[in-house]
Amino acid sequence: MKHKVSVVGAGFVGTMAAQRIAEKNLADVVLVDIIEGIPQGKALDMVQSSALEEIDVTIKGTNEFSHMEGSDIVVVTAGFPRTPGMTREELSLKNGTVVKSVVEKIKEYAPACIIIIVTNPLDVMTHLAWKVSGFESSRVIGMGGVLDTARYKYFLAEELNVSVKDIEALVLGSHGDTMVPIDRYTTLKGIPVSQFITKEKLDSIIERTKGGGAEIVKLLKSGSAWHAPSSSAVIMVEAILHDSKRILPVSAYLNGEYGITDTHIGVPVKLGASGVEEIFEITLTDTELTALKRSADIVKETFDNLKIL
Ligand code: 2OP
Repeated sequence: MKHKVSVVGAGFVGTMAAQRIAEKNLADVVLVDIIEGIPQGKALDMVQSSALEEIDVTIKGTNEFSHMEGSDIVVVTAGFPRTPGMTREELSLKNGTVVKSVVEKIKEYAPACIIIIVTNPLDVMTHLAWKVSGFESSRVIGMGGVLDTARYKYFLAEELNVSVKDIEALVLGSHGDTMVPIDRYTTLKGIPVSQFITKEKLDSIIERTKGGGAEIVKLLKSGSAWHAPSSSAVIMVEAILHDSKRILPVSAYLNGEYGITDTHIGVPVKLGASGVEEIFEITLTDTELTALKRSADIVKETFDNLKIL
């Protein structure tokens, strides 16, 4: 049986996510946006590449949220991107309103789906989506750590002049300036990366990773990244649809793990058919744990200040 994935928001991230899902033949895709003609036009353009890209799934563009009905997964990318100098947190109120209304529609039309949130500020929007949906926490997941880890791995591979496939790394915490890369668990082919790189250089890579999104926003001047963010969301879609039990850092609901309660924050989880199937509580040093808790506190504070519910 074919799967169905809806992508809400036909901006750059949403459209690229739809394209990646289709080109991997993962599921029939519905691209939803409120702007008349945009999702329809983009979907039509995409399906016209079917013969060339060997796409066997359908791609439908629509302004009707009811077309999400029966979706296994809904990826939410709708919202406003950051402008230069703007933090993800400053986007909260603007995007909170959008995410709230989208999740209300998801609840109405696709009540059995798994929600993947991509809209920023990521962890805050994921927490909001979970609250609005009333879904089990395993079914509301944020894409943050997958992207941050991908950026970290790329910068490391570039510096070490090795294949990015041989770098293993984990970035925890909020998708934002307080993300927590765990350098002890960063390896080149299983060997701690500290054997190949100086502490100073690794620290500068960590700083670059933290500002990975902002660096792109600054270059683009208008809009933010979409290639790597869409890849990250689709890796999660694939893990869920294939029930592959991949261990990925995502924004998940914590209720006591790491001593953190009632918030969403990036931690390693097992991702399978039912969404977050397990949260891994890895051993952290006091400094790492403090950094993770600080990151969670900022998410909580931003969410509390939102006063949207
Ligand atoms: C980024 O980090 C948009 O949050 C996204 O690029």
